[in-house]
Amino acid sequence: MKRLIYLDNAATSFPKPPEVMEAMLHFMKDVGANPGRSGHYRAVEADRIVRGARESVARLFNIPKPDQIVFTMNVTEALNVVINGFLKQGDHVITTSMEHNSVLRPLRHLEKIGTITLSIVQCDNRGRLDPREIPPLIGKNTALMVLNQASNVCGTIQDVRAVKRAIGEIPLLLDVAQTAGCFPIDVEADGIDFLAFTGHKAMLGPQGTGGLYIREGLSLEPLTRGGTGSVSEEEFQPGFMPDMLESGTRNNVGIAGLGAGVDFVLRQGVSQIMEHDRTLTAALLSALHDVAGVTVYGPLNAREQTSTISITFDSLLPPGARYDYGGCGAVNLGLMEEDIYPAEAGSILNTEYDILVRTGLHCAPIAHKTLKTFPEGTVRISMGYFNTLEEVEIVAAAIRRIASREYS
Ligand SMILES: Cc1ncc(COP(=O)(O)O)c(C=O)c1O
Repeated sequence: MKRLIYLDNAATSFPKPPEVMEAMLHFMKDVGANPGRSGHYRAVEADRIVRGARESVARLFNIPKPDQIVFTMNVTEALNVVINGFLKQGDHVITTSMEHNSVLRPLRHLEKIGTITLSIVQCDNRGRLDPREIPPLIGKNTALMVLNQASNVCGTIQDVRAVKRAIGEIPLLLDVAQTAGCFPIDVEADGIDFLAFTGHKAMLGPQGTGGLYIREGLSLEPLTRGGTGSVSEEEFQPGFMPDMLESGTRNNVGIAGLGAGVDFVLRQGVSQIMEHDRTLTAALLSALHDVAGVTVYGPLNAREQTSTISITFDSLLPPGARYDYGGCGAVNLGLMEEDIYPAEAGSILNTEYDILVRTGLHCAPIAHKTLKTFPEGTVRISMGYFNTLEEVEIVAAAIRRIASREYS
């Protein structure tokens, strides 16, 4: 029997450490109360678990005050809290051509209704941002830089410190959906003002968890107001963190799981996780670099990317043919009749090999325009901490067979 190989960790990580499930079950079975809402011992225990999760997240990102972290449903909500709560009429925002729709859509909406103006820095065909392109775009009204630390399409990691140097005092909102838990992040040393994270990828927590760190001194308008369990005599929203931005009962079962996921990451060590991912990435890049008919996108260097690799299956050139370079590392002719569409390749990997990957645009159309893989997209192979070198060999062999049309 074929073994299932899960290579869709950029969408959500799988499996989760057993501790994550145990922590969630413990919360459901043995705790069950609403943290911060009542004084009885079950509520106190629930509060201790949520506080513990906040402290673990603070340790992971070197956040000096855990209360500057608020829990959200996911990174999309965290990004929206900043984009809609911090920006004001007439503000200018800078972002990049490698962003996810979770950044682009809320920004484009504010631009469309006339609240902000937007500049999008073009990244190169490996997805790399050149920070020297930022200063000429800065104006008196530039209020925010929004940056995806690593592309969810091809893994390209941006130089966050260089970006912060380029923008100076302008606040930086960093989307760490793809790096939190598998790449070192230090809000102090990296100069991050707003850090938006999602819990269900390399932080190894459950879906429906995420959060936002806000540097002390920065203020924003809450998107939701309501019960916080604190200063109940007041009819107005508390002005202190985290309550200011945490109205209503949270996904506390999920937060318990997220805390356990982050504790697992801290026990393994982020650098050890990163090394594991780099080993797999280097192995897959090396296995794919000379496969005829396969184009690999991104930096093509395990030290400059996450363990996410995008490929397309392209036609081979007839000798002497003229072509345009697109993508990188190989020749992409644009989709031709005899090419294998990403969705078709994904389906072959799924049905013939039990290898689970994601195909298409990965919610990042402008990243695909940058890589010249729009509108068909790519086949995305995204590895995680529980993948092995043996699995990399199996997927590389499957890709070779598909490229040589030996699969049917
Ligand atoms: C870079 C990036 N930003 C935002 C998101 C949105 O994540 P979520 O669905 O957890 O909000 C993702 C996930 O696909 C991502 O990779």
